[in-house]
Amino acid sequence: MTQPLVHDAPLGDADPVVAALIDRELRRQQGGLELIASENFTSRAVLEAMGTCLTNKYAEGYPGKRYYGGCAVVDEVEQLAIDRLKQLYGADHANVQPHSGAQANFAAFMAVIKPGELLMGLSLPHGGHLTHGASVNHTGQVWRAVQYGVRPDTGRIDYDQVREMARKERPRLIIAGGSAYARFIDFAAFREIADEIEATFLVDMAHISGLVAGGVHPNPLPHAHVVTSTTHKTLRGPRGGIILCHAEHAKAIDKSVFPGGQGGPLEHVIAAKAVAFGEALTEDFRTYARHTVENAQVLAEALIERGFAIVSGGTDTHLMLVDLRAREMTGKEAERILGLADITVNKNTIPDDPQSPFVTSGIRIGTPALTTRGMGRPEMVQVARLIDEALTSPDDATLARVRGDVHELARKHPLYPSQGVRS
Ligand SMILES: Cc1ncc(COP(=O)(O)O)c(C=O)c1O
Repeated sequence: MTQPLVHDAPLGDADPVVAALIDRELRRQQGGLELIASENFTSRAVLEAMGTCLTNKYAEGYPGKRYYGGCAVVDEVEQLAIDRLKQLYGADHANVQPHSGAQANFAAFMAVIKPGELLMGLSLPHGGHLTHGASVNHTGQVWRAVQYGVRPDTGRIDYDQVREMARKERPRLIIAGGSAYARFIDFAAFREIADEIEATFLVDMAHISGLVAGGVHPNPLPHAHVVTSTTHKTLRGPRGGIILCHAEHAKAIDKSVFPGGQGGPLEHVIAAKAVAFGEALTEDFRTYARHTVENAQVLAEALIERGFAIVSGGTDTHLMLVDLRAREMTGKEAERILGLADITVNKNTIPDDPQSPFVTSGIRIGTPALTTRGMGRPEMVQVARLIDEALTSPDDATLARVRGDVHELARKHPLYPSQGVRS
């Protein structure tokens, strides 16, 4: 039987409906200002690696130890990703199979503590992540959880409080890292506290992994027993997760990912991870990471000059948390207004937020995506002005003018120009 032609047809011919949706999303990404701190634009090479025939391959197991035949090529792909990742962070062991950051965390936790034991993480409303023991997440249900916070006066982690809580509660796992924490984390201090109570210390570096790779954020590897991350934030790879650890935990981590929690690895995504890790090993990426942080600092400073309050007074990283209470505006409203001007941010709770998580008193802003587009200091000052103007006078005329400036800025810094640019 001859193969139906549609099987080898390009997407635009085979399924114009889906192709049109993808094209609309491409134009949205090209035309607006992406300030969501957890987002980035992968290289075209990463995109290409993901959209390949590797998606067809089942490869349960690990390189050289698979439960399927025909794995010779994907073995090489996965081993390359592992080797590059180990080199990037100076790790003894790396697992590149977790499908996402949440999957990486669950697998890592399962490897080091038993269900029902106690874990301790940064609380979600103080900048932590859902998967660090929040009650609505499985990590807060499978394990008992206590949560430390940031000091209300400084917006920074209070290491004395962490130590006191650890001594009192004696968690078996201490987690550092978060999704809206703008300051360097003192990994050595955490490790000292964990050692004192003989707990395992895990760092979730999902947000900062690109900054660590680029040498502008301290590396948690020398201090943590286990490190997890996503690959799609500052690290600028495909959507996915990774786990790094020292040799003593290697076996338990691998068993926990497969067969513990996942089936077949996504080898097309692992190929794209390998490409991204290769990029992150270059001098260009170090420059990118440095510019990402510099841009965040310039943007935070420019917003402060315009009267905005920033939690902790600034940032050491790629993100900042804007406290909108003085402006008498909620995070939800600010997200909506900026969205009308094609500026994308997300509402975010601030420490001790009087509003619910659906409303919030803050917005989280990050510079990884705009920095990838080549924007620098002058553009950050302009972005602060556009945010200020839109939020100060959200009338139709102002929003139309701001939107025009947004589109012009985006046009000057084209994204994926080989795929055509929105005019
Ligand atoms: C610190 C942290 N850990 C884990 C995750 C979860 O990653 P994913 O969305 O890939 O499951 C995130 C995502 O925002 C995160 O910020």
